[in-house]
Amino acid sequence: MTDVYNFSPGPAALPRSVLEKVQAELLNWHNLGVSVMEVSHRSPYFLEIVEHSTALLRELLAIPDHYQILFLQGGAQLQFAGVPLNLLDGAASADYIRTGRWSDLAYQEAKKYADISLACDAELNGYTTIPDAASWQLSKDAAYCYYCDNETVHGLEFTTVPDVAVPLVADMSSNLFSRAIDIERFGVIIACAQKNFGPAGVTVVIVRDDLLQRDAHPMTPLVMNYRENVARQSMINTPATFPWYVATEVFEWVKKEGGVNEMDRRARVRSALLYNLIDESRFYDCPIDPNYRSRMNVVFDLPTAALTQQFIQEAEQQGLLFLKGHKARGGIRASLYNAMPMAGVKKLATFMQQFEKLNV
Ligand SMILES: Cc1ncc(COP(=O)(O)O)c(C=O)c1O
Repeated sequence: MTDVYNFSPGPAALPRSVLEKVQAELLNWHNLGVSVMEVSHRSPYFLEIVEHSTALLRELLAIPDHYQILFLQGGAQLQFAGVPLNLLDGAASADYIRTGRWSDLAYQEAKKYADISLACDAELNGYTTIPDAASWQLSKDAAYCYYCDNETVHGLEFTTVPDVAVPLVADMSSNLFSRAIDIERFGVIIACAQKNFGPAGVTVVIVRDDLLQRDAHPMTPLVMNYRENVARQSMINTPATFPWYVATEVFEWVKKEGGVNEMDRRARVRSALLYNLIDESRFYDCPIDPNYRSRMNVVFDLPTAALTQQFIQEAEQQGLLFLKGHKARGGIRASLYNAMPMAGVKKLATFMQQFEKLNV
């Protein structure tokens, strides 16, 4: 089974050493004779994890003290509502940058709460490139500006942080911990765990202190209120203790492997191997603008639907799993998050070359 590689977009591959550690201490955590899953979140044992994970996350991403870190439930999509509910504070509008499925869903959700305008819309180009920032229609009166740093479905990733005059909100669900970021450019960052740093169930929200002064909409559920969550250490209700614990182990792993700069280096090497192969081939095609190709989710197409199906099946027989593209765009998607070893990408590249030779 060691030659199996998981290209799932999420829930996605976790580092093998983390899974082994979790397995080894599953029945007897901290020599307590019970599993971490069976320990109260209010016990000093679990609070140790809370302190440790927060400190590690702060260290890995160089998060300054005037930002707070929350570990919430409900996934990234609950934050599509959480962001407008917590940040609008009576304002009439916010700006959204639509570059793919995930920013589109965030936009659709936010429209329930205010007059949201699309300052930039890549739907017009089929989500294959990010329109030049000079063409964006940004409003100075917007409560915030929202974008998705890496569009997991369409394989589009920003290379620079958008320059806006209002607080910037980023969905980094599929690329947090894959490179260094200048946190001070952001008002809020949201990221679900199940792509790059843990099992589904825990979602990180990083919020700048001044935005915590904004009053949440009166109908905001208490468990979604950022200010209350800061005051109560993300424990208004019982947190997702097991995913939180596993995420902390992944943070340890990222640190041990060299931190986010090393994750970035690996991500570039991994994705370049596939993009170069695709660009040299007349069989495979990647329609994404080379300036914005994701390091995390490499999307590409084969000449026919039948060949795409055959590719997925034969890949699976060789231990290259979950390469099917999202139904919103079809084709193939190879997700290459932090836990993907280079050997997995090399094996996929060899398979792609052989498949092309046999089917061209
Ligand atoms: C960029 C991005 N945002 C949001 C989501 C939604 O996350 P969740 O399923 O945790 O709500 C996903 C993936 O599922 C994603 O890739």
